[in-house]
Amino acid sequence: MAILEVLHFPDDRLRKKAVLVDKIDNDISEIAQNMLETMYAEGGIGLAATQVNIQKRIVVIDLSEEKNEPIILINPEITNKKGTETMREGCLSVPDYFDTVERAEEVEFNYQDLQGKTISSETGGLLAVCIQHEIDHLNGKLFIDYLSPLKRQRLKKKINKQEKLQHKIL
Ligand code: NI
Repeated sequence: MAILEVLHFPDDRLRKKAVLVDKIDNDISEIAQNMLETMYAEGGIGLAATQVNIQKRIVVIDLSEEKNEPIILINPEITNKKGTETMREGCLSVPDYFDTVERAEEVEFNYQDLQGKTISSETGGLLAVCIQHEIDHLNGKLFIDYLSPLKRQRLKKKINKQEKLQHKIL
């Protein structure tokens, strides 16, 4: 297993659209395991392959306190949405920034597991928000894209400032 490098906004590679996984083999399983290890190491609850510069439709999630309930979603897609909910979100690709995003409250979704079996499921709450956030990543979209232009502008300034500080330290 290996810990992968997580891309940070405004890296253009976060805007690439991931392609469908057509064959679920050992390579895909290894990518998923490495993604889980990376997510745990970085302290996240979800990670999409796009964030580690792999353009395949793979998502990993673990919402448990003990970090022992990994969920691996291959080719996840939302088939139905209900209601709206706002939640404060963060993202491993946008460090140290949190903001409120409106999303569907409940989702119905399909995915394949590592055995290639297609599973249909539905969920609400944090898992529903997380699935929507991660599928956005696979489509090159970030949660900060939902913010007002003013807020995005402020965030960009903050990130530029952080980069300058880091360059001074190094
Ligand atoms: Ni994210």
